[in-house]
Amino acid sequence: MIVLGLESSCDETAAALVGADRRILASRVASQMELHAPFGGVVPELAARAHVERLAPMVEAVLAEAGLPLGAVDAIAATAGPGLVGAVMVGLVTGQALAFAAGKPFVPVNHLEAHALSPRLVAPDLAFPYLLLLVSGGHCQLLAVEGAGRYRRLATTLDDAAGEAFDKVGKLLGLGFPGGPAVERLARAGDPRAVPLPRPLVGAAEPHFSFAGLKTAVLRAVAERRHARADIAASFQAAVTDCLVDRTARALAAMPDATALVAAGGVAANTAIRAALEALAARHGLPLVVPPPALCTDNAAMVAWAAIERRQAGLADDPHAPARARWPLDADAEPVRGAGVKA
Ligand code: KG4
Ligand code: ZN
Repeated sequence: MIVLGLESSCDETAAALVGADRRILASRVASQMELHAPFGGVVPELAARAHVERLAPMVEAVLAEAGLPLGAVDAIAATAGPGLVGAVMVGLVTGQALAFAAGKPFVPVNHLEAHALSPRLVAPDLAFPYLLLLVSGGHCQLLAVEGAGRYRRLATTLDDAAGEAFDKVGKLLGLGFPGGPAVERLARAGDPRAVPLPRPLVGAAEPHFSFAGLKTAVLRAVAERRHARADIAASFQAAVTDCLVDRTARALAAMPDATALVAAGGVAANTAIRAALEALAARHGLPLVVPPPALCTDNAAMVAWAAIERRQAGLADDPHAPARARWPLDADAEPVRGAGVKA
């Protein structure tokens, strides 16, 4: 089985061809970073328009790279949400049209499910259930991944995602967008104990996250003009790391059958955070699995792979699914008091 996957839920346009044997025949991602950088964040209308311009040629490019006609593909999958709804719609409608034209099944994919299953594309031995820490610019969740289509959301963020906090702090420190990699670079030259910063929710019974108060504390530290910028960056990164480790430890305690700790999303690329998660997993006698960066950040191979897993599990999907701005993976999860609008 070969699946063509499409991804357009935020500011990455992506297409990929993946086999059920876990071979990635072709995978392309076009970032729109330079398009949105002048605005300091993603502009939804610009994102949707760029997807329209880039997606169709990209589909042709991945088919050409794999040396396959569209007719050789067994199914077509696209992200149907959650995300910027105008952006999601571009990939979704493109996928539905291609599937209709080629007479192939269409699989609408939840972007969070694609992240959740992506480690199994590269780690065939990774067995369910595992604990997933999904940390990016748009997501900050702890999920018990029990099987394709079977997720329990153990925690989410009450306000900002961890990557969003890195981006905002990057802005406060006068670094470019995205802030994460720049903050990490600056933090290497700083003292993580120099600036006292809060660790929101550390010790709380439920493993939820909150980063808004930490960001405000950084704003205050910058305004005081008493600290070196590198010290602020290092102290902020240490605070985020402590929060992620404490909250993840709490979730691991509630999931004694976990076979592994998995971290995905752009923030999982952070060396200090990764080392701390490695140590945490080791304390629980578990391996830490982090997909390679190209699979960790938004891509279409994970979308194709999620469709393969869903079909292999015998799950039936509505080919006419609408584009959704919000689409929680765990429909039974309790709404979190004080939480913002994030999925
Ligand atoms: O997964 P991703 O590429 O896109 C989505 O948000 O879906 O994640 C991007 C986020 C940005 O907020 C970026 O600042 C953050 O991940 N990030 C990092 C690092 N690299 C990327 N945060 C901390 N340290 C890093 N090295
Ligand atoms: Zn994502």
